[in-house]
Amino acid sequence: AEKTSDAEKMYTYKGVLYPRLMCPEENLKAVEIMEAREDDVMLVAYPKCGFNWMVGVLRKIMVEAGEQKSESKTPPLIEFFGPDNLKAVNEAPSPRFLGTHLHPDNIPASFYEKKTKMLVIFRNPKDTLVSYYHFYNNNPVLPSGQSFDSYFSQFMSGDVGWGSYFDHAVGWDKKMDDPNVMIVTYEDLKQNLTEGVRQISTFFGFNLTEDQIQQISGQSTFNAMKQSSADTHGHLGNIFFRKGVVGDWKNNFTPEQSREMDEVFNKRLAGTRLGAKLNY
Ligand code: A3P
Repeated sequence: AEKTSDAEKMYTYKGVLYPRLMCPEENLKAVEIMEAREDDVMLVAYPKCGFNWMVGVLRKIMVEAGEQKSESKTPPLIEFFGPDNLKAVNEAPSPRFLGTHLHPDNIPASFYEKKTKMLVIFRNPKDTLVSYYHFYNNNPVLPSGQSFDSYFSQFMSGDVGWGSYFDHAVGWDKKMDDPNVMIVTYEDLKQNLTEGVRQISTFFGFNLTEDQIQQISGQSTFNAMKQSSADTHGHLGNIFFRKGVVGDWKNNFTPEQSREMDEVFNKRLAGTRLGAKLNY
């Protein structure tokens, strides 16, 4: 990663930016024809909305439910696998745990055909932007060294990895009635993680005792996950568990930037059901 210049780190596939080192074009092509299964456990999130938090929760749920022996450390993102690893994934026993940052319209068709259950986590776009800004500057596979102001402009125009937050949100709003889709928010989970764990395990059909639910939520707090991040995510683990709070945007946004985002939010999401759910 050190040898790749910032300019070479991102590339465009079908109009959307992706980090070349993690998901080159051959990965995105391979994923398009991937075969889903009805009993896959699928996690979806726009980057920095709390994906890794839910990875921890779902892996613990699957271990407690007796569906998996131990928590795997391989990132579950289907667009990271590449053609060779996808072959292994095709042969893995059910239920498989998979994830993606892809826009709902770019998730392989097979997932919709098989009616695979999908958990989608969303987060207030202002905190998502701040989290993504820090991630760009700390993750060697992403361009770094930008000012907050220039990153703000890129995020607002969708010129960041996996595209525009607002395009993703508008896409998921259209699927609010899909019984195979469960949308949760970062903010609601911060407020009541135990209730979230209970609802998520019920949605996927895993029966857990109250003790198991309490145990999983206790092990999935920000501090608990940050402490085990070197074990779960390797030497760069700490960059996935930065601050873990609601409202950090207030320390970063100027009043003008806040107004600019409010305008876009109002234009694209106000009056939508997902918009109402977003704690904006
Ligand atoms: P911050 O950068 O605001 O701290 P993703 O996993 O989608 O990349 O999202 C990363 C964000 O989720 C980071 O936000 C990270 O700190 C936060 N996060 C990770 N685990 C968490 C947890 N258990 N509880 C709350 N937030 C968590």
